[in-house]
Amino acid sequence: MNICIIGAGYVGLTTAAVLAELGHEVHCIDHDERKIRLLNNGEVPFYEPGLEELIIKNYNDLTFSGRWDDIKRAAVVVICVGTPPRPDGGTDLRYIEAVLDRLATTIESYKTIVTKSTVPPGTNEWMRAELIRKGVKPQLFRIVSNPEFLREGSAVYDMFHPDKIVVGLEPDDDQSLAVMQAVYTGINAPYLTTSLAGAELIKYAANAFLATKISFINEMARICDAFAVDVNDIARGIGLDPRIGPPVLGAGLGYGGSCFPKDIKALEHAARSRQVEPHLLQAVQTVNATQLDVCFQKLNEQLAPLTDKKIAVLGIAFKPNTDDTRFSPAEALIRRLSENGCTVAAYDPKATLSEPIARVTQVQSVHEAIQEADGLVIATDWDEFRTLDWGQVKAAMNGTLVFDGRNCLDRHAVEQSGLRYMGVGRP
Ligand code: NAD
Ligand code: UGA
Repeated sequence: MNICIIGAGYVGLTTAAVLAELGHEVHCIDHDERKIRLLNNGEVPFYEPGLEELIIKNYNDLTFSGRWDDIKRAAVVVICVGTPPRPDGGTDLRYIEAVLDRLATTIESYKTIVTKSTVPPGTNEWMRAELIRKGVKPQLFRIVSNPEFLREGSAVYDMFHPDKIVVGLEPDDDQSLAVMQAVYTGINAPYLTTSLAGAELIKYAANAFLATKISFINEMARICDAFAVDVNDIARGIGLDPRIGPPVLGAGLGYGGSCFPKDIKALEHAARSRQVEPHLLQAVQTVNATQLDVCFQKLNEQLAPLTDKKIAVLGIAFKPNTDDTRFSPAEALIRRLSENGCTVAAYDPKATLSEPIARVTQVQSVHEAIQEADGLVIATDWDEFRTLDWGQVKAAMNGTLVFDGRNCLDRHAVEQSGLRYMGVGRP
């Protein structure tokens, strides 16, 4: 099939590369000229494991440009532009609106328009009405909501191995499911068909539930600290119950990234817009918003006074295997340390600080970060940090405190080298 992807970000580029690998002819449009230039030079503008290789492998079936005319040849248009948060918690749909403007002036033959961007319930209905209002004949298109569930850091794997493919359809649409099955030929996953709004809400419900698990285990970590119990034991204990399951029970600095924070807020906003009070969503966000305070307080208790202390922070990205720092708890902690007078040497294998921060230097290795540090903080659980030689770390540091903000270290290995271990809910 000839498929056009709009938006060459984490979701758009991964979708483009995977669909090309599945045998389609894919054209990817982005209004960011720098991104298009890089892509045409064989470079991916961000770090996502395996993506660059997949793009290069499929270069013959993949093109990148800012030319909207290329939509004309496509049977399927997949919208993957950003849907950032508005200050009031709602969703900023300006990029979707800009795409609709372009589509309205470009569509001349039948298209299946697929929304992969995460959008609030009712948006796809509204998009359909907008296209008609802008003059596109209703018989020239169908809108399909096909939310994406990939995780950054494992985006390529997740897209090849989804646990489901959610397809939201207009009420009288009896042809687009077959189109979507043709798009995903070669991917083995159950299809779940529902209404447009049903698909939109499944996406928000999934992210909200995962965020709830994280805030739940972070609240348990606070209780564990009070009762001298290891929260990792609790996570293992409840995770063995198949009704709960082990994933996403890692206590730490709280959830971040470009999606959980904005999507939970957007769902809260959508609920309120229909006079539903989202008590649980509020609690999830309150725990998350205060988790950094709890962690910072623990550090302060151990290192006070913080002024002029040198802290090595390992991790800047919001999670491992990505260079994405959007709403990164690691960066928020670095900022908090700086505000409290610490000098910080921050290291991340891939991510860069999103802006300069006073008294913070980004260094090029763990070795450089830990020199004469009064304390060491693991802020992102990169594999590289799990296997450090703790004897060497101890020798390089001035102080002895290791704060494992992601509960990812072997505490005994750390303690055996004479360092003090402090985790989150691991007294
Ligand atoms: P991103 O910011 O990485 O990429 C969006 C791209 O769209 C950018 O390259 C931008 O230049 C481009 N763009 C914006 N407006 C455009 C326009 N009018 N014309 C052409 N290009 C335009 O965003 P992302 O992380 O890929 O997320 C995209 C959507 O997918 C969001 O709704 C997000 O919530 C959702 N989502 C993201 C993830 C993820 O892990 N990042 C996972 C699932 C769903
Ligand atoms: C998340 C979802 O997992 C994806 O299914 C979804 O498609 C995506 O959001 C989206 O809608 O954009 P992602 O944000 O890439 O994916 O990353 P996650 O692995 O879910 O982690 C999110 C945050 O939660 C990170 O800050 C991570 O460190 C934190 N986290 C995760 C924990 O604190 N504990 C855990 O046990 C797991």
